[in-house]
Amino acid sequence: MQQASHILLIGPMGSGKSTLGQALAARLGLGFIDVDARIVAATGLSIPAIFEAEGEAGFRSRETAALLAALQEPPAVIATGGGIVLADANREAIRAAGFVIYLHIHPDEQLRRVAGDHNRPLLDHADPAGQLARLQAQREPLYRALADLTVDTSAQTSEQLAAALALRLPQLCDLPGKQARP
Ligand code: S3P
Repeated sequence: MQQASHILLIGPMGSGKSTLGQALAARLGLGFIDVDARIVAATGLSIPAIFEAEGEAGFRSRETAALLAALQEPPAVIATGGGIVLADANREAIRAAGFVIYLHIHPDEQLRRVAGDHNRPLLDHADPAGQLARLQAQREPLYRALADLTVDTSAQTSEQLAAALALRLPQLCDLPGKQARP
């Protein structure tokens, strides 16, 4: 069985990575790390301000640095940003670091959740639905290829999903902090 150093949550904007991550970490007795929150804390800038000052490329290099630093920390549930899968280096590091859960979300529900959100610069767009669809078409194969488990988050609350995952995960991987079984 796979020995997981961390539980990593990947998936698009609005799929619930941060809220589910917090709920799951509490149930598993693990720490919780939000990579986007780490970037904001390290820079003292909001994500839109980082995009404005440094462009998406600047944000992406900060994202890689925050991810790699998080992976060095004690076992945790780690919520990533939707674009973390774009860089080869991020995918390699994530694959080596633990058990990866792809949070899938139905496009209608995703749009409902993120509509009017001004904290996501990639959605500052005349056609947010089209933009989300384009991003998903590009990223979905990357999410799928990286995931050990895919969960649809469209129809359940984060608490419901966290409860179900906390029961299921011990059958799928050796959870962080536990000894690997022979
Ligand atoms: C991004 C998603 C955001 C954040 C940034 C870029 C993306 O995180 O990292 O705005 O490229 O999809 P969430 O997925 O937590 O919204």
